[in-house]
Amino acid sequence: MRPLAILPSILAADLAHIGEAVRDAMAAGGDIVHIDVMDGHFVPNISFGQDTVRAIRNVTDRRLDVHLMIAPVDCYIESFAAAGSDVITVHPEAGPHLHRSLALIRQLGKKAGVALNPATPVATIEHVLDDIDLVLVMSVDPGFGGQAFIPASIEKLNILRAMTASRDIEIEVDGGITAETAGAVAAAGANWLVAGSAVFKGGPAAYAGNIAAIRKSAERARGELV
Ligand code: DX5
Ligand code: ZN
Repeated sequence: MRPLAILPSILAADLAHIGEAVRDAMAAGGDIVHIDVMDGHFVPNISFGQDTVRAIRNVTDRRLDVHLMIAPVDCYIESFAAAGSDVITVHPEAGPHLHRSLALIRQLGKKAGVALNPATPVATIEHVLDDIDLVLVMSVDPGFGGQAFIPASIEKLNILRAMTASRDIEIEVDGGITAETAGAVAAAGANWLVAGSAVFKGGPAAYAGNIAAIRKSAERARGELV
């Protein structure tokens, strides 16, 4: 089974204190930092840029999972790589040549991911399976934290698990992940669980309990807990 990871999404952190939030969330049991980059064009919200990624790179040794919700995307991949991203994920709708975007990410020595919006079919990645390290299933429409989980994501995860069996591809899920939904997505094959609101709610003193609750649900669903 692919190793389980919990990825705090810093979009939900106190943005006046991003560095502390990253350090605290990682010390509280987070595995990988998820950074949502939004341009107010591809999605109806604006968030972080390369300088934010670089600033976060300077406060943690953990992997940085950078989710690009920007179009065009190709012209920015190199600068996000240089800023210290470890994984760079693009949406297929954000550029004309998905294969070319993925090749560029790998050429830059980074892991390449494809994000599938709720209405984007899994077949979109059928012919680039050799070119990706990760597939991200959006379980909400991208753009905002704190939205409700879309149940149809479960079927999508099941299909992707079959499609990527025996390949070294992480299956990530992003949007509406809580202790309540983590079990179902883990049971359907997701092993990278992004969570924003469910990690950062209640402030720093609550992070460890919040992350543990998500992890326990996922571990139970994976048969790792009794
Ligand atoms: C949404 C982002 C998510 C967001 C998830 O466009 O991609 O990463 O931070 O937030 P929650 O976990 O609150 O749904
Ligand atoms: Zn995201």
